[in-house]
Amino acid sequence: MLILGLETSCDETAAAIVQKDRDGVKILSNVVASSQSIMAKYGGVIPEQAAREQLKSIIPVITEALEQTQLTPKDLDGIAVTQGPGLIGSLLVGVETAKTLSLVWEKPLIPVNHLEAHFYANWIGEDQPSFPCIGLLVSGGHSDLVLFSDHNKYQYIGGTRDDAAGECFDKSARVLGLPYPGGPNLSKKATEFRAMNSQSKMILPRPMLNDGSFDFSFSGLKTAVINLVKDLGPQLLENNDQVAEVCAAIEDAIVEVLVKKTVRAAQIYNIDTIIVSGGVATNQTLSKELSKNFHGRVLIPPPYLCTDNAVMVASCALFNYQAIDPLKVEANPNLSLMTKEA
Ligand code: KG4
Ligand code: ZN
Repeated sequence: MLILGLETSCDETAAAIVQKDRDGVKILSNVVASSQSIMAKYGGVIPEQAAREQLKSIIPVITEALEQTQLTPKDLDGIAVTQGPGLIGSLLVGVETAKTLSLVWEKPLIPVNHLEAHFYANWIGEDQPSFPCIGLLVSGGHSDLVLFSDHNKYQYIGGTRDDAAGECFDKSARVLGLPYPGGPNLSKKATEFRAMNSQSKMILPRPMLNDGSFDFSFSGLKTAVINLVKDLGPQLLENNDQVAEVCAAIEDAIVEVLVKKTVRAAQIYNIDTIIVSGGVATNQTLSKELSKNFHGRVLIPPPYLCTDNAVMVASCALFNYQAIDPLKVEANPNLSLMTKEA
């Protein structure tokens, strides 16, 4: 089975060709064009600009993904595309391109939920997750916990009530004067601080830590960071050591909540495998703390498969092959993760 995957939900334009056989899932090509450096000038993603960059990149990216494999469209068994959630202008570029290619090349079209696709970065290679498993998705817009019992069959057990973990990283980084994208830059500073000191003495709130639910809330933490930065005064931004200490305190708070809730979910449902995905899954403190606090298997994809890419979209389609009439597929910016009994 050979699938061409397309991903255009935000500021990355990606195409990949992925193959599934008896030995597992192999990446034949993986091309990502990012407009992140353009967005860095504005300190965040400008939706119209992101959509324009998608339009410029989509055909060259698909062409390169095919050229790297020396395959022709005839060899494909299907085209998978991110249907949502994401920015509508960006999504439309991928979805309309995929529909057109599906009709012209006469290949089945498989629409994919971007959030489900993130989990499928864990199915690349030979060492695949086993069911049941707990899935933690932590990206820029989402923080969700699901209990997978099989492919296409999962129970939504909790998620953020307001801001996502990635958003909390990004907004906190912004008030600390760190460049976009904030998450990795904030984490780098936190690591710098820990290399010289044991632990930050600044304690920030751990929202909903012990409330018994599997939901998250990060907006209160974001407000606490804004207030702390105000209290420390404008001289804070000139004091690299103190900024690094605030970064460590923020990362400690976010990671502790994510790890405690995820490990508790695995214990309560009696699960021995946790799979993590999404941009925040590249966070080293998160992976270290999860492995330290959970005695089962913790699977986290390599960083290039945690952030947005098309390999995960193709991989998701390989395990959930549901072709739809291309004329009936529409971009859906509001797709979410909901319990699936199929
Ligand atoms: O999954 P992703 O690439 O895009 C979305 O679908 O949202 O996730 C992007 C998010 C951003 O908020 C970014 O700051 C965060 O992932 N991120 C990190 C790290 N690397 C990326 N957050 C914390 N630590 C990191 N190392
Ligand atoms: Zn994503």
